[in-house]
Amino acid sequence: MKFITATSAGLAAALALTGCSSPSQLTFVHMTDSQFGFYDYDLEYQRYKNAIALINSDNDKDEPVFMIMTGDMVNIPTAEHNADFIVASNELKIPYYVVPGNHDINAKAEAIELYHNSFGKDYYTFDQDDFRIIVINTNLWKYPQARTAEFDQWFEQALANAKEDGKNIIVAGHSPIFLKDVNEPEDPYYNIEPNKRMEILNLFKKYGVILYVGGHSHTRIDNEWEGIRFLHAENTSTNFDNRPYGFRMVYIKDGVVSDKFVPVNQ
Ligand SMILES: [Fe+2]
Repeated sequence: MKFITATSAGLAAALALTGCSSPSQLTFVHMTDSQFGFYDYDLEYQRYKNAIALINSDNDKDEPVFMIMTGDMVNIPTAEHNADFIVASNELKIPYYVVPGNHDINAKAEAIELYHNSFGKDYYTFDQDDFRIIVINTNLWKYPQARTAEFDQWFEQALANAKEDGKNIIVAGHSPIFLKDVNEPEDPYYNIEPNKRMEILNLFKKYGVILYVGGHSHTRIDNEWEGIRFLHAENTSTNFDNRPYGFRMVYIKDGVVSDKFVPVNQ
């Protein structure tokens, strides 16, 4: 299955019709931080390929309808490394969507250009039945830059549109909005600074976001705030909390979010 670029939303919608979800039910794969080259490029690449094969085999008959990769596809982005990720991911039988991580993209114009050339837009939305998934570039919040104001405007409009369209809203980003406590101070590397964090969280609440999925922490995170779940999955590169390599199967039914860890050949 070829990956769905931000510019082929129509195709994504058409593919959605072939999925197994019924309204208000959704099962998808939450993959994150494949980060080829974190320690050992070839090993991490192979482990990711094992994960893709596992999704295709669907041993537990979960029937996920898409995979979302919440960023840091590779450790050092080059056209070749990004192409490796795409080639491996194109083996998937289901559509997949990618989120920009801090390793994939940063404030440098050439890195953004490379990302756009490899993967398409760095923020966009797609629909799956009555769910709208809003894919965001958290780098624009973590490291505010010229494009941040335009992104902020787009984000609130995307939320407003989703609510107006009666969609269940999922936001997919890379950095944790917060790591453990909604009132925690800013960490220089991991979370979003408190003022911006509350602005984002209040938008989540205002427009009825049900779930945020992300990566970056290299630890499992399962938080809840005002009824909104915040899930960060294990990955296939390295888990600082000694969790095994793997990914998550996420289930949403009637507004209730649950998930299951799927280990990948270590
Ligand atoms: Fe990251």
